[in-house]
Amino acid sequence: MLKQKAPSAATRADLCRITVRGKDGSEDVFDIRRNDLLLKAAIDQGIEYPHNCRVGVCGTCKTRLISGRVSPMVDLALSPLKNAEIEAGFVLACQAKVRGDLVVEVKLGHHTMLPVTTVSARVSRWRKLPGEVIDLRLALDTPVHFHAGQYATIAESGSFTRRSYSFYDAPPMDNGAPASEVGFLVKRLPGGRFSEWLFAEDRSGTKFWMEAPFGVMGVDEYDRDGLCVAGGTGIAPILSIVADRLRRSTTAKFTIVLGVRSATDTFAEPYLRALVDQAPDRVRVVTILSHEPEGSTWAGPRGLVTEALGPELGLDFAQVSAFICGNLGMVEAVERKLIGLGVAEERIHADKFIPSGTP
Ligand SMILES: Cc1cc2nc3c(=O)[nH]c(=O)nc-3n(C[C@H](O)[C@H](O)[C@H](O)COP(=O)(O)OP(=O)(O)OC[C@H]3O[C@@H](n4cnc5c(N)ncnc54)[C@H](O)[C@@H]3O)c2cc1C
Ligand code: FES
Repeated sequence: MLKQKAPSAATRADLCRITVRGKDGSEDVFDIRRNDLLLKAAIDQGIEYPHNCRVGVCGTCKTRLISGRVSPMVDLALSPLKNAEIEAGFVLACQAKVRGDLVVEVKLGHHTMLPVTTVSARVSRWRKLPGEVIDLRLALDTPVHFHAGQYATIAESGSFTRRSYSFYDAPPMDNGAPASEVGFLVKRLPGGRFSEWLFAEDRSGTKFWMEAPFGVMGVDEYDRDGLCVAGGTGIAPILSIVADRLRRSTTAKFTIVLGVRSATDTFAEPYLRALVDQAPDRVRVVTILSHEPEGSTWAGPRGLVTEALGPELGLDFAQVSAFICGNLGMVEAVERKLIGLGVAEERIHADKFIPSGTP
């Protein structure tokens, strides 16, 4: 059972008791404030509640409501929940305001997650990389803890345009020290509010705020070999996970399959090279290009990232942990392909880069 926690400033009358039943008969109990969002309140308390986008799009937080009342913040008919799931009582925890005591069914992880904090920061590096990507580093006024593969929500100080980006660094290892600087790879999205603003001029020194850490993608056994599949800047959390695992395991090997559009999209090369140089016999990288012009000098594989996944990788698919990150369509296609190749569903960990839905 979870150690029972309660939000500090709430009185008993403000609190709702959440009882989480697992399919295996387990039962976890925690308290949250009435009218708080179920997912946010749980992860604020360090509970490993499944989540990804937090905006009602990906469906990762779906939860069966057994008893009690919630107010959904989105029209469930427009949500990723299927009709049969809605009829069976499923809700999206990220969009569910808690109105009273609840009994729910969802599979919680039992790792201790880090509590979410909001800190102020300043841009310490703003560097344009090939492929319309910015390497954005923030020096944090208050250091934060995060796990490899997690992400942060960031915004310019005073702006309401906040977006989620994955940390590309591994967390510091020295006695669990927090990070005082963090880095992100931000892809320019034509017409994108935040990414176009970031691209428009050198933002060095600009004040930011950051809320973190979120996400559970990197959580799995450290000694298992990893198959890491990324589309574009989806490579960021993969860099973090592989760097972290190379330090934590002396045996695990990693195959990183990166899909980008063309041979000029080389933004990830220096970061990948650093990993290969660190452990040449444990890290290999396969790059596949989706839009490389015919007749160019590129001699490597061409096509969608799914086309690089097959027996020719020489992996024991039944044993690997898979880490997938990129846009929604790419992640779902890769998940299907890996299941077909024999990767166990519970060993597939994914982060979907989903638009935030905020201004
Ligand atoms: C958990 C998580 C982690 C993320 N990590 C990263 C990261 O490390 N690096 C990174 O570059 N991005 C990442 N993203 C995506 C990022 O949060 C923004 O959505 C993206 O940068 C676009 O923001 P914007 O303000 O420029 O565009 P917006 O103004 O939000 O969007 C403009 C238009 O583009 C569409 N759009 C927005 N995002 C996407 C997308 N990803 N694919 C296709 N169409 C889109 C919108 O629907 C809209 O029509 C992550 C998203 C999530 C949920
Ligand atoms: S739908 Fe709730 S986390 Fe994505």
